[in-house]
Parts: sequence; C-alpha cells; structure tokens
Amino acid sequence: MKRHNIQLDKNGRLRHFLTIEGLSRKLLVEILDTAESFSGVAEQTIKKVPLLRGKTIVNLFFESSTRTRTTFELAAKRLSADVLNINVAASATSKGESLLDTLHNLQAMHCDMFVVRHDRSGTAHFIARHVAPHISVINAGDGRHAHPTQAMLDMFTIRRHKKEFAPLSVAIVGDILHSRVARSQIHALTTLGVHEVRVIGPETLIPAEAEALGVHVYHDLREGLRDVDVIIMLRLQHERMRGALLPSEHEYFRRYGLTGETLAYAKPDAIVMHPGPINRGVEIDSAVADGPRSVILEQVTHGIAVRMAVMSMAMSSHASLEGTT
Ligand code: CP
Repeated sequence: MKRHNIQLDKNGRLRHFLTIEGLSRKLLVEILDTAESFSGVAEQTIKKVPLLRGKTIVNLFFESSTRTRTTFELAAKRLSADVLNINVAASATSKGESLLDTLHNLQAMHCDMFVVRHDRSGTAHFIARHVAPHISVINAGDGRHAHPTQAMLDMFTIRRHKKEFAPLSVAIVGDILHSRVARSQIHALTTLGVHEVRVIGPETLIPAEAEALGVHVYHDLREGLRDVDVIIMLRLQHERMRGALLPSEHEYFRRYGLTGETLAYAKPDAIVMHPGPINRGVEIDSAVADGPRSVILEQVTHGIAVRMAVMSMAMSSHASLEGTT
C-alpha cells in the first residue's frame, strides 16, 4: 500500500513543504510556474498582493540565517500576511520550554503557518505531525536532512538560464556529506529529469550511499566539471563535522576550489551557483564569485518569489479545506 505523504492534502495539494523527496515532477513545476507569476511583484510600485491578507506567519529559527529568514519575511509581507519573527535566544525556549509547548502557545495565538529552521534533522516533520489541521509547516532547513525552498529557488534560477532541465549536466561540488541543500537539490534535479547529476568532493565529504540517489561521484574536480552546464558550489560545513575530515582549507582550495582555471573545464556558458554563505578563497575564488558567470545574487532574489509560491500554495490547500467544512 502506498504511504500517505504528510506534505499533501487528500487532493494531492501541498499542505506542508518539508522535503522534495516524494513530490512529483508536476508539483515541482507548479511551484516554479507559480513563482514565475510572483516574480513581477518586486517591480510593482506597491510590492504587495493581497493573497494572504489576514493570515499570520511565524518565522521560528532555532539556527542562524541571513538569506532564508529575511526572504521568507519579505515573501510573507509581499503576500500581505502578518509576520512574527521569534527570537529564539530571547524566547521561553531558553528557559527550558519544550518545542511542543512553544508551538502550542503560538497555535493558541491563531497563527496559520510556521516557517522552521532547526539544527536537528526531522524537526519540521515532527512539528507538522503535531500542529492543528489549519496550520502549515514550511521547512527552512533541518540539520543535514533537507532545505527544500533553497533547492526550489536553485531550480528556478537554473530554469531561468537554461530553459529546459532534460539536456543538463549539473555538478554539485564540495561538502555533500553534511549538506541538506545538496540532498534537496539532488532530489529536485532528478525529479525534474536532468540528464546527469555529478557530485564532486573528497572521499571524506561524499556520503557512502551517494550513488543510490542517482548521481555520479567524482573525486577529481577537473574531471567532474568537464562539459557541465551548471556548477553548484557548497561551503565546508564545519559546524556539522565531527573530527578533522580535511588536511587544511588551503589544501582543500587547491584541490576543489573553483577558480578561473577550473571553471574553464565546464561548458563556456556554464553558470556558477552557491546557496551561500560563500567562503571566498576556501571553495570559490572571488574572481569567479563576482564574475560574469556567477548567478549567486540572482538566487537570493529568486528566493522571494519561490517562497511566495510555496506559502501561497500551502495556504490555498487550507482555503479548500475551509470551503468543504
Ligand atoms: N542558503 C541559506 O540557507 O542561507 P542562510 O543560512 O543565510 O539562510
């Protein structure tokens, strides 16, 4: 028997957005198309649409963030929702309140959506299983597990530049082992039907089960970058490493850093991406990060439209629920 996907309502519409894994190509394309329809809002004199007027969205970040938290806040405001940013360090969590008690208190304030980042894998799923039926949960990154809105804004950026997914070879370079972004990108790219996904990095930073995800593994950067259309660089995630997995950052840059010289192995029109934060001189040279092939800041801009899409789609599944009761 097919297992129920907790992210979907009974009509197959997005209710929570927790992971890309298990979602259909049709749904991912719907997110991209909906984001495309929102991308013009930023050009309007009044950068707002009234879709989520009267709704309250809570940003609940238990881990640091620059891009994700602020673009979720901007996206919610552009949808006309009210936004609460909970400062976890100053909240009752620091006085020993459990996660569930915090949630139940926010729920009692008639909030409609929780956007959650946590350093423990599975937290967003845990919350989704415990919230009231009218509340949606969006995963803004959980441990090493998933960062689905980051992957979708990356897919949006790739589609803007390359139009079709099918012919593309995409290389993801760096610390794959500790990266929730890489895991979500791999699920998104394979679901959207790219020709090939390559992961490139030292043996210590590539998970043993990588090939089971449908990717090709390379340990030599130049070989792995040969003729790819898209390069996604990742930072070394020291905060999730247990023990020394690398000789030194200097040695890592020598072997895996993206420079003008290593970029030349990719196709001449290959784009360079990075989810941020970037570490200049560790995984990427400044000349490449700021160069003409870099779309790193475009990714940040697209994050707003993609997050507007995901939030409005999840809320519209509740609207249909309200309509049937
Ligand atoms: N890409 C990303 O998740 O960045 P932040 O940690 O700044 O949100």
